[in-house]
Amino acid sequence: MKMIVTGGAGFIGSNFIFYMRRVHPEHELVCVDKLTYAGNMETLAPILGQPRFTFVRADIADRKAMYDLFEAERPDVVVNFAAESHVDRSIEDPAVFLQTNVMGTQVLLDACRRYGVERYHQVSTDEVYGDLPLDRPDLFFTEKTPLRASSPYSASKASADLLCGAYHRTYGMPITISRCSNNYGPYQFPEKLIPLMIANALEDKPLPVYGEGLNVRDWLYVEDHCAAIDLILEKGRVGQVYNIGGHNEMHNIDIVKTVLHILDKPESLIAHVTDRKGHDMRYAIDPSFIHGELGWLPQTKFADGIQKTVRWYLDNRDWWEKIVSGEYRDYYERMYAGR
Ligand code: NAD
Ligand code: TYD
Repeated sequence: MKMIVTGGAGFIGSNFIFYMRRVHPEHELVCVDKLTYAGNMETLAPILGQPRFTFVRADIADRKAMYDLFEAERPDVVVNFAAESHVDRSIEDPAVFLQTNVMGTQVLLDACRRYGVERYHQVSTDEVYGDLPLDRPDLFFTEKTPLRASSPYSASKASADLLCGAYHRTYGMPITISRCSNNYGPYQFPEKLIPLMIANALEDKPLPVYGEGLNVRDWLYVEDHCAAIDLILEKGRVGQVYNIGGHNEMHNIDIVKTVLHILDKPESLIAHVTDRKGHDMRYAIDPSFIHGELGWLPQTKFADGIQKTVRWYLDNRDWWEKIVSGEYRDYYERMYAGR
């Protein structure tokens, strides 16, 4: 079986590639990545040159490049992780989010249709559902919750999901969609909450918490997300959306305090800064459908996953120190100076 994995030099895509190599070593994997600021070849270095793994640098929104690639590779399955993924960057500059997340998805769908791919899987997010109020802990996102995106990022992801649904309905294309809650784990770019807090704490820099830090996210260890996608590819129903989450809701401020506690750093490093524009209050997935239909359940408890994650960033300082000393420094200045 040959699978194209787009965005495989990023956080979840690379974890998915490592997961698939372990669980299905017989699969042939072709990783397609544009290597934006978020893509990192060092992450994939251990498997470059190995049998049944190929890396292709290309833009998913480049139609000719994608058609040429599909013509040459003739994949059975395509899993699309490639995206612009950071909400704050989408607030700064939405255009590239539409280009990659919407136009790129459309190009991939067209390529899959043209080359008769057996399954196209769209990796989406719970953010397409908008947010939930903090005072209604009884409410959760189900697969039937209407799309109500808040940020340019989530609007672009919701648009891509709608396109996938339309290609299924109109052309009978064999698509599946998964909408996962916030992931954490190794290889996450240090602009996102958990790795940013780890990196800053290790350098004794202030930890910027937006507003009061009372916003709630539903955290899932990245490997549990990878396992869910694998299961959907194997046993999922075509045309179906699957929500993925592990009922692990936490306030941002408690995440930040947990990181400080593990690293034995003082809470005085916490700096409350101006809130994010349009900041979603609470995300919370109801995972009962994927559990009932595919038997998926998360395997990693947050207490263990966060210890493993902090350990990984301690053991792999090289990986992230290079990032925080490069182009990222300008972004950080722009995003956080005077906030
Ligand atoms: P990431 O930003 O770490 O990685 C994205 C990867 O896509 C990078 O390697 C980048 O180089 C590549 N890429 C970007 N534009 C491209 C283009 N035009 N063509 C080819 N490659 C391109 O993102 P992530 O956190 O790993 O997220 C992966 C997917 O999972 C995204 O679709 C995201 O919306 C979704 N998702 C993420 C989370 C989360 O918590 N991180 C949760 C749910 C869903
Ligand atoms: P993030 O990791 O950007 O994921 P998302 O916005 O897609 O959920 O942010 C997670 C939460 O942490 C979100 O409520 C915003 C907040 N946050 C901070 O308080 N400070 C920060 O520096 C960042 C990056 C995020």
